[in-house]
Amino acid sequence: MAKILITSALPYINGIKHLGNLIGSMLSADVYARFMRAAGNTVLFICATDEHGTPAEIAAHEEGLPVEEYCRKQHEIQAQIYRDFALSFDYFGRSSSPQNHELTNHFYHRLDDAGLIEERAIAQVYSIDDGRFLPDRYITGTCPHCGYPNARGDQCENCTRLLEPTDLKDARSAISGSSNLEVRETKHLFLKLPVLADRVEAWIDSQKDWPLLVSSIAKGWLKEGLQDRGITRDLKWGVPVDRPGFEGKVFYVWFDAPIEYIGATKEWADAAPPGEMRDWKAWWYDAHDVRYVEFMAKDNVPFHTVSFPATILGSGEPWKLADYIKGFSWLNFYGGKFSTSQKRGIFLDQALAEYPSDYWRYWLLANAPETDDTSFTFGGFAGVCNKDLADTFGNFVNRTLRFCSARFGDAVPAGGKPGPMEGELTASVQTTLDRYTAALGAMQLRRAAEALRELWVLGNVYIDRAAPWTAIKTDKDRAAIILRTAINLARLYAILGSPIIPDTCARLREALGVTVGDDYWPNDAAAELAALPAGHAFSVPPPLFKKIAPEEVVALAARYGGDEAGEGAA
Ligand code: 2FM
Ligand code: ZN
Repeated sequence: MAKILITSALPYINGIKHLGNLIGSMLSADVYARFMRAAGNTVLFICATDEHGTPAEIAAHEEGLPVEEYCRKQHEIQAQIYRDFALSFDYFGRSSSPQNHELTNHFYHRLDDAGLIEERAIAQVYSIDDGRFLPDRYITGTCPHCGYPNARGDQCENCTRLLEPTDLKDARSAISGSSNLEVRETKHLFLKLPVLADRVEAWIDSQKDWPLLVSSIAKGWLKEGLQDRGITRDLKWGVPVDRPGFEGKVFYVWFDAPIEYIGATKEWADAAPPGEMRDWKAWWYDAHDVRYVEFMAKDNVPFHTVSFPATILGSGEPWKLADYIKGFSWLNFYGGKFSTSQKRGIFLDQALAEYPSDYWRYWLLANAPETDDTSFTFGGFAGVCNKDLADTFGNFVNRTLRFCSARFGDAVPAGGKPGPMEGELTASVQTTLDRYTAALGAMQLRRAAEALRELWVLGNVYIDRAAPWTAIKTDKDRAAIILRTAINLARLYAILGSPIIPDTCARLREALGVTVGDDYWPNDAAAELAALPAGHAFSVPPPLFKKIAPEEVVALAARYGGDEAGEGAA
């Protein structure tokens, strides 16, 4: 039993996220958290809304709300959506929390005391038409490295390189589109990353088992050479900088956001019910007994492999660094990007209004963009849900329980002994279960979904071959042992499927009267297939999944801007 700290990249506060955001961090982290808990570990799974920065200010302004109120409202909306997706956060915090304000200033002071902060007067872009300094990401232009025409002033999303706004060619304001910009002088704090480069590099080099996607981005970034990085901004909304002369300035959102992983842990501890002791520091400080795993999409990798570790290492204090980073490529929508502004793609509230969360969870995990970008299409979604969930898993459960109920009643039937077919089944289940367990432990999500599907296929192949509906005509005991085995298999599915499709599995557990909880993980197929004894009562649940008809696919594609006839469609 180990202590596992899991963080998901923090979703920005400004608006409801889409399917790509979900699989690229929160959902993947949830599967791992659920599995690790079931496997008997002590898990702390932390997430929060990332609330600072100009996007929040602008979104609040557009809604006509004070930014504090906007964030409070949006935090609740997002929190509810993640509950509806059955994300099992131990705590879902807010980067605007007092805990994060305090910790962010703590890190800043430590870095300052270590001589790693420099105050500089810099020239910054001021938008005359907007009447304000433009934060980096609100300046757009052409990337000097790859020529991408819509690079933001903080990062090029095409080549993932971090930028300074003044690097951009043909810069313009992303707020008004105005190129009526001028450069003004303003005072800011810089973190001296070059001084920390050796320490960061030594840490990255010591990580031998990171996914290639992550280590190549990290190393590529180091190879380019680190530069001093501005960590303050001329904004009102954010963590105020505790330094004379810096009144009215705040920390850069990317400085305080990762610190909120720690901040949210403190929020979790502060929210403990009376009588429960929660030691937030034991998870982060001198926490040699903790394994820390971070989940994020690839554009977040530089911040988590270089900037945040630099903050931690520079503090000179023994804060926890990530032991493993699971990074993701992009999930596209019909071969193109999801886009909030162009209303392209399906967002999480819309997704939940169309189908229950398990349909989405299953498709996303079975198609997780782990090594390469993958593409969502409604046709592909319907195909996978219909075949794997409805025809394979749902159908097995339904025909097994209904047939048993009709012929033997609503209890596990008595009689018969396992024969060669049950022996073969047990051996195949054992092999596939081992593969499934290994894939989950290694965070290989597609492989895990594949193994789970294979387990469902094994059940269907077994019941087709064993044919209890034929056996019952001549040998009632034979039919009984087949059904007893099949019902136990359904029970096993209800347990094993929980990390991936938790709501459906909870319903099935209930119907089958499964007594083991979410802190149980099977390892012995033979024992599992004999777990429910003869006489154990069950009920036949309504069909677990409904099929998605071709007309629905056409209607969905039309509703959300997908081109089912186009090239991106699968
Ligand atoms: O890219 C994003 O969505 C950021 N809000 C992720 C922040 S992760 C962490 F460092 F806070
Ligand atoms: Zn670029």
